[in-house]
Amino acid sequence: MVVMSSEHNSEFKSSDQEFAFLSSSMPRMDSYGNTENSSNLETLMQLEGFPLKFFLLLILITIVLILVYYQKSHDADHKINDPEFQMSLSSMPMGLYNKVGIVSNGGPCSKIGVDIMSKGGNAVDAAIATLLCDGVVCPEYLGIGGGFLMSIYNATTKKVITVNARETAPAAASTSMFVKNPKKSLYGGLAVAVPGALKGFSVVYKLYGGGVPWESLFEPAIQLCENGIDISERLEINMRNSSDKIKNDPALRECFYDEEYSRLKKVGQIYKLPKLAETLKIIAKEGVDAIYNGSLTSKVLKDLKKIKSIITKEDLANYDVEVKESFPVNLKSGHTIHTGPPPSSGIILAYILRVLDGLLPASNAGLDAHRMVEAFKFGYGERTHLGDHKFVDVSEIYDKVKSDCYINDIRSKILDTYFTSSDPKYYGADYHMSENHGTANIIVTDSMGNTVVCTSTLNTFL
Ligand SMILES: *[C@@H]1O[C@H](CO)[C@@H](O)[C@H](O)[C@H]1NC(C)=O
Ligand SMILES: *[C@@H]1O[C@H](CO)[C@@H](O)[C@H](O)[C@H]1NC(C)=O
Ligand SMILES: *[C@@H]1O[C@H](CO)[C@@H](O)[C@H](O)[C@H]1NC(C)=O
Repeated sequence: MVVMSSEHNSEFKSSDQEFAFLSSSMPRMDSYGNTENSSNLETLMQLEGFPLKFFLLLILITIVLILVYYQKSHDADHKINDPEFQMSLSSMPMGLYNKVGIVSNGGPCSKIGVDIMSKGGNAVDAAIATLLCDGVVCPEYLGIGGGFLMSIYNATTKKVITVNARETAPAAASTSMFVKNPKKSLYGGLAVAVPGALKGFSVVYKLYGGGVPWESLFEPAIQLCENGIDISERLEINMRNSSDKIKNDPALRECFYDEEYSRLKKVGQIYKLPKLAETLKIIAKEGVDAIYNGSLTSKVLKDLKKIKSIITKEDLANYDVEVKESFPVNLKSGHTIHTGPPPSSGIILAYILRVLDGLLPASNAGLDAHRMVEAFKFGYGERTHLGDHKFVDVSEIYDKVKSDCYINDIRSKILDTYFTSSDPKYYGADYHMSENHGTANIIVTDSMGNTVVCTSTLNTFL
């Protein structure tokens, strides 16, 4: 699926509309309709000047995601039906706020980010603390063993910086290592990539944050690990499907298994992560080098070796975070979409919005939906040509998105006859993409208007 994040300018005036989007891989299909998530959104804030448009946009994104979801689930059956039930708008409570805003995933996490800002931290500091919290409250989606893509909008310079701290393949990885057994790319030691999240936090903290001490970003997550975290409905459901794996893994069993009743923990119970708390304390004190080349490195390598990972100390020491200015794409409305290079899928979102630019609203809601869905299908067709820009030549996509001629050609294939195809090739796709999951997204805006959007993932959970 897609990833989607958005950024914007707190001084969003109709005369000077600028706002930023970034994408990577699709978050939170898993959480669609999930009550826990709704409560987390209570800290979603409204900023002076631009609230209505922002929320309309959020609603639009939600609708788009729902539509894509329909399309995907129907693709699976190779037939395309109308929705069978009325799609409701998100059940999230809408708060009105004047200064700062955070959307996060774990119950207590947006509050933790807000606290960081109230102590003098900016959006970057708050994003790090929020992500560290999300990592312990939503351990099946993200965490310090994973990686992230981030966009940072600077309200002073009006520039957007994109950060790629996704995990990387170890140096000893080869293109043939999963050919015999593709499952090994998802489960087990070979599926573990060099983690990027911590190095990423450290780089953005040093370059763009720093209003508060590094240690203070870790304290709230450490306290949660030590005091206990409520099992959410989401976690209970996600664990249920992996109960054997949790039971058979001593470390997971210790945290998530209820020995007294011989079953997985349920809503109403808590879990503690004392070992993670110890690790976070060391990183808070010594910096991320503790993991990448320092006091914890040999322990990390020992654990990795136990599960037959091929990651070496050089892989850890050489891990690099990529920081780049965004690629801007302008729309007729005056909005600018900012995206980083693949593996972020932001450019695909830009492609879709370029195709739809001027096509919406159509004369009726049915045609709106048709055009939107077709534009997504063409966007996803393009996505099959993309890869990590360090290894795959992806320059063509930038030319396509900028080219009016190319975009018009795609538009000419979106017909008011409601024609649609279930052949991936019609949409320019190389292959059929299966569903993927296990991604989380946060948005933070500080009182200056600086905005951070981050999509973070562990890839596959259990
Ligand atoms: C935004 O840019 C200004 C000017 O270069 C700089 O002083 C400030 O620290 C930047 N803020 C962030 C959040 O990057
Ligand atoms: C549950 O696990 C099975 C096998 O491990 C997998 O095939 C299935 O897709 C999983 N379902 C969900 C909802 O994750
Ligand atoms: C780790 O850091 C030390 C110096 O701080 C350096 O000498 C060593 O080469 C580094 N290790 C690796 C594997 O790069």
